[in-house]
Amino acid sequence: MKYQFPEGFWWGSASSAAQMEGASQEGGKGSNVWDYWYTQEPNVFYNGVGPQTVTDFYHRYEEDIKLMKEFGHNSFRTSISWSRLIPEGKGEINQEAVKFYNNVIDQLIANEIEPFMALFHFDMPWEMQKIGGFENRDVVEAYKDYAGACFKLFGDRVKYWFTFNEPIVPVEGGYLNQTHYPRKQDFKAAVQVTYNTMIAQAKAIEEYKKQHQSGKIGVILNLSPVYPRSDNPFDEEAAYIADLFHNRSFLDPSIKGEYPEKLIEIIKRYNLMPDIQPGDKELIRQNTIQILGVNYYSPRRVKAKETLPNPYSPITPEWFYDNYEMPGRKMNPYRGWEIYEKGIYDIMIRIRDEYGDIERYVSENGMGVENEDRFIKDGMVQDDYRIEFVKEHLKWLYRSIQEGCNVKGYHMWTFIDNWSWLNAFKNRYGFISLDLKTLKRTPKKSAYWFKEMTKNNGFEE
Ligand code: BG6
Repeated sequence: MKYQFPEGFWWGSASSAAQMEGASQEGGKGSNVWDYWYTQEPNVFYNGVGPQTVTDFYHRYEEDIKLMKEFGHNSFRTSISWSRLIPEGKGEINQEAVKFYNNVIDQLIANEIEPFMALFHFDMPWEMQKIGGFENRDVVEAYKDYAGACFKLFGDRVKYWFTFNEPIVPVEGGYLNQTHYPRKQDFKAAVQVTYNTMIAQAKAIEEYKKQHQSGKIGVILNLSPVYPRSDNPFDEEAAYIADLFHNRSFLDPSIKGEYPEKLIEIIKRYNLMPDIQPGDKELIRQNTIQILGVNYYSPRRVKAKETLPNPYSPITPEWFYDNYEMPGRKMNPYRGWEIYEKGIYDIMIRIRDEYGDIERYVSENGMGVENEDRFIKDGMVQDDYRIEFVKEHLKWLYRSIQEGCNVKGYHMWTFIDNWSWLNAFKNRYGFISLDLKTLKRTPKKSAYWFKEMTKNNGFEE
């Protein structure tokens, strides 16, 4: 069968500023939460590797962009580092950063690679975190000004903007499970930060429209379809609630301009309501997204709670459901995540049916592998498993397009193996492998496959 994708389909990969640029103390950059955290607790990072150098894109972007071109990219997503552009988070703009991002954008365009740009990928400037990060409405204002500066400086060439990448991840990591700064355990703060992030998004979109920019602005969400263990109503209710927390808390206000009633009801019942300011509701309603990025790795499977939560333990989303390890599910043996390719189709169909079929694309999908060097043969990582992974997801994506979904592209996570927060370089995701000592880039087998596939705008099988 032939999987021929529509003309003009976006092919490429994604990364982010903090994960690839390096030069974290160079070029006038201010610290972000990761730079700061590393100075405090280097050992919480896998093998003690911090954010200073990573893939060194800051110094090697010309070489890397050429490689992207060579390996079939017509688009690439990264992010602007807030703390590089505005070292203190608010105030003065760092001209060295302006020069760097201008060069990167121009270089991408010169290579016929469309830049897709996120404004925030988990990297809160430290000066902003010091005053509470998105718990504080002043930081929301600073983010809006930062976004406005980015549109003014780069909006003549960047036509695809994303307010946030996976905005729920720093909330869950920072306020529920301690994998992101400020590593608290506080559901009420988590709700406030979720809410304020949405206000920040709405303000950035409002600003984008005010500037009469000619591109599109949206958000990138990690959407995992939630499957109940069974059709027992208790399991179904558990799945409904998990979906409210993990998907709809950003999806609904971003696309529909309002929060789901049921989510508000739960938040109220548990006394978790955030501080809301006059005009907020209208702001969210008026400033919905124009394009959606969908990051998909794994499904979420849940079941009804088997024991009542301890009423004295801090409340978390897991008060409402238990995770379910479905017997026989297919696992990625090298990263420990479930692989369920049809999930990508289920998400796309749901957005078609429940969210007005908004223009969207797969903004991340990929397979992490620990100790990937064990698969080197003839000087190259023979990552047939990754080719298989991408192919199987693309088949389902193709089917969703055949069934009318407004899907415009596919970005793999990631191009060159990159640094991944506390996991540092533990799990490798790239088309290109990175030698951590020499920073040498070597294409993996999947890079050649991707090159061929994108040349044909699809594949046959
Ligand atoms: C994605 C994030 O969800 O997961 C990336 O957007 C991250 O920033 C990626 O690097 C992989 O995570 P991990 O923990 O497997 O390295």
